[in-house]
Amino acid sequence: MVLSLTTSFVFSQSNSFIPGKQWKDTDGVHINAHGGGVIYDNGTYYWYGEYKTSGRSGNTSLQGISCYSSKDLYNWENEGIVLKVENDLNSEITKGCIIERPKVVFNKKTGKYIMWFHLELKNQGYNAARAAVAVSDSPKGPFVYKKSFRPNKGVWPMDFDDKFKSASIGENRLKSWTPEWLEAIKNGMLVRRDFDKGQMSRDMTVFVDDNDKAYLIHSSEDNLTLHISELTDDYLDFTEKWTRVAPAGHNEAPAIFKKNGIYYMITSGCTGWDPNEARSFRSKSIWGPWESLGNPCVGRDAELTFYSQSTYILPVQGKIDQFIFMADRWKPDNPIDGSYIWLPIKFDKEKPVLNWLGTWNLDVF
Ligand code: GAL
Repeated sequence: MVLSLTTSFVFSQSNSFIPGKQWKDTDGVHINAHGGGVIYDNGTYYWYGEYKTSGRSGNTSLQGISCYSSKDLYNWENEGIVLKVENDLNSEITKGCIIERPKVVFNKKTGKYIMWFHLELKNQGYNAARAAVAVSDSPKGPFVYKKSFRPNKGVWPMDFDDKFKSASIGENRLKSWTPEWLEAIKNGMLVRRDFDKGQMSRDMTVFVDDNDKAYLIHSSEDNLTLHISELTDDYLDFTEKWTRVAPAGHNEAPAIFKKNGIYYMITSGCTGWDPNEARSFRSKSIWGPWESLGNPCVGRDAELTFYSQSTYILPVQGKIDQFIFMADRWKPDNPIDGSYIWLPIKFDKEKPVLNWLGTWNLDVF
């Protein structure tokens, strides 16, 4: 009896990452925190993500955003739903809305935990394209929903040429994906289209810099162009300082980190829940120019990001300049089965590199 208890205890402890397999929490249930992000707070890691359900409706938000905690990154305890969808049909986060890619950051000035996420209003497909924010006094929640935005309403991006502030004749009639159309996108056709109602915000992440300035990095302009929008000091609003990255480059799933004073970003292309080839970028300033470094993945299935899509890049505590690439292997037919691809980021000179590892642990750093 004693022996079997000990054995099951030993077996339930993890000491490695096995990308793509079921990752059991300390209750033995597959972790349900998709499109997520992780923060480190007072000796504990907190992982926030989309709580998916089974079946066709499983990608809409029927419960909210989940949280798990861990001391070692291998063993995760379920902290429950920390932002709950609401039953009130008039609420922006009513049950059945779409909540994606939640990211939490701590604000040193206010002592609050700030959660940003991509919000789509119920029954409107992906048309609302809003960034939404919620606040908590504790990393374990509960998070209180505040508001949602189309960022940068009525504000031009930095360094936006005056000549692009008004439409060129006939641009609305250009055929999609022709060179002329791509040129018009680069020159801000969709920025102008959305100027009055605010810029779109779909796939997103939040990045806090060394100087505590924070930025929302979001797929905008019908997912054709990434925007970087500076947040106010309380991280609850926008300063109206923003820029465009890789115009007409069609990037989603942005994840960012900073190493030796250089900013790196890993993104995906845009093929919905299907995997595609990742991209990487680097820049000396958050405001660019962002230099394209190509696909960071190497080896088998590198052209499909090992059947996954980026969501976050986690700095490893206690190790200088070591980072974990976090990605989702989506299962759109049964979203709750989606799994997690975490891999260490290596470098080839100044280029981030991702190699597949069937099993690994923090000793690689
Ligand atoms: C993906 C995106 C996901 C989700 C999905 C919906 O491209 O990265 O977060 O929005 O599309 O089809």
